[in-house]
Formats: sequence, C-alpha cells, structure tokens
Amino acid sequence: MAIHCANLGHGIGLRAAHFKELAERPVPCQWFEATSENYMGTRGEALAHLLKFRREVPIVLHGVALGIGNTDPLSRRYLHDLKALIGQVQPAWVSDHLAWTGVNGENSHDLLPLPRTQESLRHVCRRVARVQDSLGRQILLENPSTYAEFSGEQIPEWEFLSAVADRADCGILLDINNVYVNAYNHGFDPLTYLNGIDPLRVGQIHLAGYTECGTHLLDTHAHPVSQPVWDLYQSFSARHPEVSTLIEWDDKIPPLDSLLAQMHRAQAVQRGAWRCVSRASAIMPCPAASVHL
Ligand SMILES: [Fe+2]
Repeated sequence: MAIHCANLGHGIGLRAAHFKELAERPVPCQWFEATSENYMGTRGEALAHLLKFRREVPIVLHGVALGIGNTDPLSRRYLHDLKALIGQVQPAWVSDHLAWTGVNGENSHDLLPLPRTQESLRHVCRRVARVQDSLGRQILLENPSTYAEFSGEQIPEWEFLSAVADRADCGILLDINNVYVNAYNHGFDPLTYLNGIDPLRVGQIHLAGYTECGTHLLDTHAHPVSQPVWDLYQSFSARHPEVSTLIEWDDKIPPLDSLLAQMHRAQAVQRGAWRCVSRASAIMPCPAASVHL
C-alpha cells in the first residue's frame, strides 16, 4: 500500500526569524513545513503569517508533542487543537515522530526512543489508528534520532518503522539525517536502512545537519547538511525521485538565503544533477557509540 502525498517539490521549515523577510518578497520555495504546536490554540501574529503564506504555497504541519509512543492516554485536548488547526490551514499532510515524549503527565520535551519490541509495535499501531480516526486522515511518522537502545530489542529500526506504517496504514516521514546519525551512533549500515524502507510509504523527506561530538553525532539542526547525508539522499532519490523534501534548520538559524541555498542543492541532487564527492557505499561501517539500557 502506498501513502498518497503529492510531490510538492522542495521546501523549508517556516521559522519566525524569517517571517519579515519572507513577507517582503515572493515566496522563494515550493512549500513550507510549520511546527504544529507553535500555532495550535493561538490567534496571534504567527498564525496570521502562517495563513498568509498558506494562500501562496502548500503548508504541511509537523508536530513534536503527539506522544504516539506514550503510555498515558492520548490527549483529547491536543487532538482537538490539532484538528482545529488542520481546519484552518488545510495542510497537505500532518506528521509527528515515532517516539515517546513523557509519562504520568510529565512532558520531557524530548523525542525519546521506543523499545523496538512486538509489544510496543502493537501499542503504537493502536494509537496511530486512534489518532487517524480522530483527525479523519492519515498521518506520517518520522524516524527520530536516538542515542540509546534497549537490551532485548527484537526488531531493527527500519523494520519497526516499516511495520508501523504497514500495520497502522500511515505514512513515513523519512529523516535521512536521522538515519545517518543513528547509523553512526548504533553502528549499522544506513543503506541497509534505506533499502529496507518501502519508498511508496514515504510521503516526505527531511534533510538536516548534525553536530560531531567525538564519540557520537548529535542531531542539532544547527549546521548545513553533511556530505554523507547528501550521498544517502542521492541514493534514495535514485530509487524514488518523487518525494517532497524539506531542509530542517532549527538552531543557529542562518540567513534565509543560506537556507535556500541548501534547498537548491537538494533540488539539484534529486534531479541527479549534483555530483556527489564520495560514494554512498563507502560511508559505512561506522563505530557504535550508543548506550544500551
Ligand atoms: Fe526531521
């Protein structure tokens, strides 16, 4: 089964730091991704900007606080506010992360790794079904970056992600930077990951930059996309060149033109015009740097 997401082309994350400049020029990208929680339940200037841009290009909504892997009940208030925002924005699609975010009512404000077991697979799939029923639409789930693994895990990450998409009939937001970060931190081949994902389930791609921390890579979204991630993007695009792609940059946000330069490079790579310096097959193996819980 495929996820039905139109190919919107290439976009950037909509950030308040760029509102003013974006408002003064023609929209320089094909679409924006907006962080859902920044607009849910609000009526302020940021929402006004979002709705203005929505009149010009498609918007997709990307959440960080759904808590699809949590054990607490799904928040009715959260789903209500998200559904109301969806009604206002009419996004091309809605996404969040395959992660858990808190327990017993406490929010960690982080995207925490799920134990990749049959039990948690069933748990997540039940919750995806409830969310999709509540919103009346399919969602996409993103593979998060992780820095720890649970002992006794039964399922490789790419198989777990694929199984959630297949069983819950949702889409995948494939963050290729997160694939590379996890491959480095946990010591697997990122091409095995990409080749293990059904591209027809992938509705969107994220590209971002990480920070090298010596023993591990940290997914900071504070740097340009790295060469190994460009190589992996080229490899995936060679098999499936029709996936909407977004440049994520959330910390030390650069001038708009620097962000757009990354987006234009992604366009060139996806068209096959970009000559990657290194071969993707030469990236791995990477040392394992993760912690086993
Ligand atoms: Fe991402």
